[in-house]
Amino acid sequence: MQLVHWIERLVPVDALVPEVYREWRPLVRDAMSFVISRMSTERLEAKITEQAQLPVGTSPEVRLTSLIRKMPGLQKLGQVLARNRHLDPALRRELLTLENGIRDVSFDEIRAVIESELGPLLADHGVQIEPGIFSEASVSAVVRFRYRDGNGVFKVLKPHIAGCFADDMRLLQELADYLSSDAPNYGLSGVNISETFADIRQLLEHEVKFDYERTNLAEATGIFNEVRGVRVPQIIPGLCTRTVTAMTEEAGIKATDLSELPPGTRRTIARRLAEALLVAPLFSPSEEALFHADPHAGNLLYDEARDTLVILDWALTGRLSRSQRRQFSMLLVMLMLRDVEGAASAIRSLGEDYGRVRETTSIFLSDIPMYRIPGSLDAIRLLDRLAFQGVHFPAELLMFRKSVFTLDGVLHDVAGSEVGLDEVLAGSMPDRWPSLPLGPSDWAAILSSASLYGTRLWLQLLSRY
Ligand SMILES: Nc1ncnc2c1ncn2[C@@H]1O[C@H](COP(=O)(O)OP(=O)(O)O)[C@@H](O)[C@H]1O
Ligand SMILES: [Mg+2]
Repeated sequence: MQLVHWIERLVPVDALVPEVYREWRPLVRDAMSFVISRMSTERLEAKITEQAQLPVGTSPEVRLTSLIRKMPGLQKLGQVLARNRHLDPALRRELLTLENGIRDVSFDEIRAVIESELGPLLADHGVQIEPGIFSEASVSAVVRFRYRDGNGVFKVLKPHIAGCFADDMRLLQELADYLSSDAPNYGLSGVNISETFADIRQLLEHEVKFDYERTNLAEATGIFNEVRGVRVPQIIPGLCTRTVTAMTEEAGIKATDLSELPPGTRRTIARRLAEALLVAPLFSPSEEALFHADPHAGNLLYDEARDTLVILDWALTGRLSRSQRRQFSMLLVMLMLRDVEGAASAIRSLGEDYGRVRETTSIFLSDIPMYRIPGSLDAIRLLDRLAFQGVHFPAELLMFRKSVFTLDGVLHDVAGSEVGLDEVLAGSMPDRWPSLPLGPSDWAAILSSASLYGTRLWLQLLSRY
């Protein structure tokens, strides 16, 4: 316990969390003491030695970055919060610097992993690794290389992850339980503590499965071969192992840095994003449609020379079954037709039956002005509201919901309010509607609902007065 106090003095919460966010201080303070007191002895010893070796005047920020070194769970916590749109942009920027400050490994360590994993294959392929780490996140580090056939990158699982992963997941779970039990006392709105922790665990669990990401990439290649102006990196199969993935190096500007481009180009990029990440999975011809579940701007590049959008990082994906897409399409159409009964019936097929589905749907629809046609974001918001009320939906659908929200945020950052998801979705309908996974009985339901649309609209209008 003495040690906990010592670390708390060295890394003072009041200095770390600025005055404007003072309501966060109790949470941060409790979380820190909890984690420190529950850490394994070996890890705690290493932390103390590190802190003791830092020069006396070291700033609290640097001390914090050092405190969470080699702790993927806590690093990810910062990252997930940094992407939470309910939080203040200034706070999100602070958290992002934490993410960009991750320095757990040296280039030599990563090179050593690549050499021991690939051995003679490196010479066989004429691989020359470029010195320096290109990018580092909580679980993996990326370095660039040249080889016989061009330029590539190695995404490498950081060597300490194997040893600390289980301990970090345990700590996260305990921290989540501890904080949720006290959640009302922290008075934070907009952050659902147990959901945030579930997100973190899911991200980490997927990120360590390198072979899974490669399977996803191969599948995504097949999908985007059909879509003009979109591509994904190609796996270099001869240079991959369980902890090393080799793929083609893709050139481009990060979607976070597109502000220099002319507005027209940004609108095109935004439309393509919606096409690739929402429309393509919804209208997919396959039984299980793959979707990217983490489409934040850092995972998206725009290759200006080839006028192509590049989608990176396929560690976290989900799949929507044909029946889920069918019910989701029905929900969308029924919302457009303002048919409460029809929408509620689609929702019941997507999740579970629940008394308030109809009532919630009806209130939800009546809050949308009559001049505005409800769209996919509304459908997702309605599912969100029901999930919040406790209606149970399959995990994949919840992931899809999150992915659509993220995508909506990215579109907004790229093209302002000029390109919306629903505008793109509606624009692609005329070409695509035959591939909607709807059957004859669905069309019959739609036609019968549509024939009553005028009457319903009048009744709903009248009920407002
Ligand atoms: N094929 C690639 N070509 C160019 N840059 C890449 C490639 N793969 C990854 N990167 C760079 O490395 C970063 C991290 O890779 P990513 O796959 O997103 O993993 P993670 O976010 O889990 O660390 C990317 O944001 C990008 O800057
Ligand atoms: Mg990434």
